[in-house]
Amino acid sequence: MSEQDPAGGVYDDLELPSGTWRPYTAIQMVMTVDGAIKGPTDDYWPISLEADQRTFRRFRIHFDAVLHGARTLGMRIDRYMWSEELQRERRRRGLREPPLFIVVSNTGQIDPKDRVFQRRSYPMAPLVAVPEVAEVTEGLSAVAEIVRIGNERVDLEGLMRYLAAERGVRRLVCEGGAILNYHMLAAGLVDEFFITVTPSIIGEPRPRTAVEGPAALPSDRLQQLELVTTATHGDEVFLRYRVRGARPLA
Ligand SMILES: NC(=O)c1ccc[n+]([C@@H]2O[C@H](COP(=O)([O-])OP(=O)(O)OC[C@H]3O[C@@H](n4cnc5c(N)ncnc54)[C@H](OP(=O)(O)O)[C@@H]3O)[C@@H](O)[C@H]2O)c1
Repeated sequence: MSEQDPAGGVYDDLELPSGTWRPYTAIQMVMTVDGAIKGPTDDYWPISLEADQRTFRRFRIHFDAVLHGARTLGMRIDRYMWSEELQRERRRRGLREPPLFIVVSNTGQIDPKDRVFQRRSYPMAPLVAVPEVAEVTEGLSAVAEIVRIGNERVDLEGLMRYLAAERGVRRLVCEGGAILNYHMLAAGLVDEFFITVTPSIIGEPRPRTAVEGPAALPSDRLQQLELVTTATHGDEVFLRYRVRGARPLA
């Protein structure tokens, strides 16, 4: 993307493989220079600049499905859910359907009034994946399609198999948050990690970071990434990494 192309996103020309038994999967996140993915209060949102927001919005052009953890609801994740721009760009690429919007929750305790479920113009109901034991909030099944996968917790590998086999999802973007990112990576279900470094410092003592598991990985088992591209736009840096150790696609 150049300064002369204000309508474009950094990754508009991306060519991605497609998955068969599971979707080809990318995580997309943004962080400050001191590693925070959010500030202590909503006043700090959005943390990124226009180029990242535009790139984030347009990234969905490439995917059949968009995945979120239940705790990103309420963060206005619906705001780029559907737009004329996205629709036009997808049509240009031969993709007629909008991306399937998916939320995963172990408890099923999700507010059916969340804006994600109120987008009447969106052509299909979001899918909420829960385990067998989950007690789903009253009213949720009226606004979302509920899919049960896994016993005590959502079985993420099972969910990926279902999406590929039953819903034709060949490419999926996981837009966070940190906890879901960890579990997707730990299960070997992530092929690429896109992260933007935005030029601000929040300075919180214990910031939320892009990947958070129950405990740090042992030092000899750190997740290894391979740098694919870097791009700069203004003061923001866009990093694209391949995840070593992702499960084979076929
Ligand atoms: N800077 C960025 O790029 C960016 C992007 C996205 C989000 N964020 C920030 O990240 C924060 C939210 O992230 P978060 O880490 O707190 O939560 P999260 O990853 O959005 O959601 C975690 C939840 O996902 C559900 N889940 C279901 N199955 C799971 C499984 N197998 N493994 C793991 N989780 C599963 C659980 O929901 P239940 O609790 O319902 O059981 C779990 O509590 C927000 O503050 C948001 O602003 C920042």
